Amino acid sequence: MEKPMPVTSSKNSEHGMIARRELLNFLAASPLAATPTVTSMIASVLASLPYRASAQSYDVLRASPRTLGPDGIIAAAGDALNVFEFEPAAKKAVLAQDAPAHWGYLESGVDGDVTRDVNHSAYARYSIRAKRLIDARKVDTSVKIFGETWRSPVFLCPVSSLGAYDADAGVTVARAAGKRGHQIILSTVDNASIADVSKAHGSPAWFQLYPTDDWAVTRTLVNRAEAAGCPAIVLTVDRQGGRNTETLFRMRRQDQRDCSGCHTPGFANDVGRKANFAGIDVSKVTNLYGTGMTWSFVDRLRTIVKGKLLLKGIVTAEDAKEALRHGVDGLLVSNHGGRAEESGQATISVLAEIVDAVNGRIPVLIDGGVRRGTDVLKALAVGAAAVGIGRPYVWGLASFGEPGVDRVLQILDDEFITIMRQTGALNVGQITRDTVSRV
Ligand SMILES: Cc1cc2nc3c(=O)[nH]c(=O)nc-3n(C[C@H](O)[C@H](O)[C@H](O)COP(=O)(O)O)c2cc1C
Repeated sequence: MEKPMPVTSSKNSEHGMIARRELLNFLAASPLAATPTVTSMIASVLASLPYRASAQSYDVLRASPRTLGPDGIIAAAGDALNVFEFEPAAKKAVLAQDAPAHWGYLESGVDGDVTRDVNHSAYARYSIRAKRLIDARKVDTSVKIFGETWRSPVFLCPVSSLGAYDADAGVTVARAAGKRGHQIILSTVDNASIADVSKAHGSPAWFQLYPTDDWAVTRTLVNRAEAAGCPAIVLTVDRQGGRNTETLFRMRRQDQRDCSGCHTPGFANDVGRKANFAGIDVSKVTNLYGTGMTWSFVDRLRTIVKGKLLLKGIVTAEDAKEALRHGVDGLLVSNHGGRAEESGQATISVLAEIVDAVNGRIPVLIDGGVRRGTDVLKALAVGAAAVGIGRPYVWGLASFGEPGVDRVLQILDDEFITIMRQTGALNVGQITRDTVSRV
């Protein structure tokens, strides 16, 4: 059995730095850090300290035992050992509000949820090739996308209707992400506006676009996002054919509340509550997703988007090549977290063909089923420029609010730094296809 490492002076100084990191993280999460200036000062000091890797020493075993509720569900964000533990905690919190339909909405894939589940399980088809005898105590996790430096390659995906899980959701999530240096893509149908979210984040968020079927509305949404400083518009293209969100429908049947206060019929009422549509005349709109969109819509959008234009939902090499022909600046390989079509195909399984198709000309991002730092590393190794998470941060939000989102991001950061060290990658550029092998 391994013996605990003797405590040396260098270990002590590492512990000292870790303690400083913990203190700064605590300060970052406190109301003291409510201004972007203080937040960015803390972020820059944090960036200069080494990350804490997971379970570095036996101190974790000596620390007081975790306190679990009688149901075995974590009672505080800090108790979580991995992001999965937030899922039952979030379920408990949402069901305590008698809102099974809201839980069903978050959990649902389509049909039998096969694609939702394979998104994560397919990461096991890649294994990691660890490299030994490399001093990787100090590693750099940052990535550069379109000239922006992100402290972490993990970004937060657009998730609509977050208000169902936290009254101030959009802003809460943005604040947590900003403090840890994670980029965020705001959903068109978030409860907070792109301007408020960018302010809370401390730097401009990206904007996910559901264009609607009225060009005047599309144009206003894009102009509004760009006026708020948004450097990238992400057009979602995987929601055109309709879907069968069976898990949602099943849980909706158990919901005894009168939902008509929020869910009044008609498009105008549907989006009337959404901050990004405030003041926009939506009387001619019949659907959010731009049903009937073709590549000529992308061309038209290209003429009005001044910054970067990405497509979210591309899952084939053919479409990736077509996107290049239409002047798109980046792709997000996504199947909407298994909420678009029941393809049974994981995003990680199609990533390589898309990366190879674009051949370095534009960045390729990915989301779907990312739950571990090792998943992040595998996606980067196959060629992703950055890696998105959806449900995990919402589990954190729904269970414990901002500390929950913060802890989810901290766990992923810690796991990622640990596996970077174990593979001897000193920076993200050193994570290459050689870092993984197909099982
Ligand atoms: C409840 C929910 C709402 C979502 N809303 C949006 C949305 O408004 N726009 C969008 O492009 N994608 C949306 N997505 C998809 C996410 O952006 C992302 O692709 C997906 O959640 C990633 O998979 P993961 O949840 O397994 O991490 C949503 C996903 C969930 C779970």
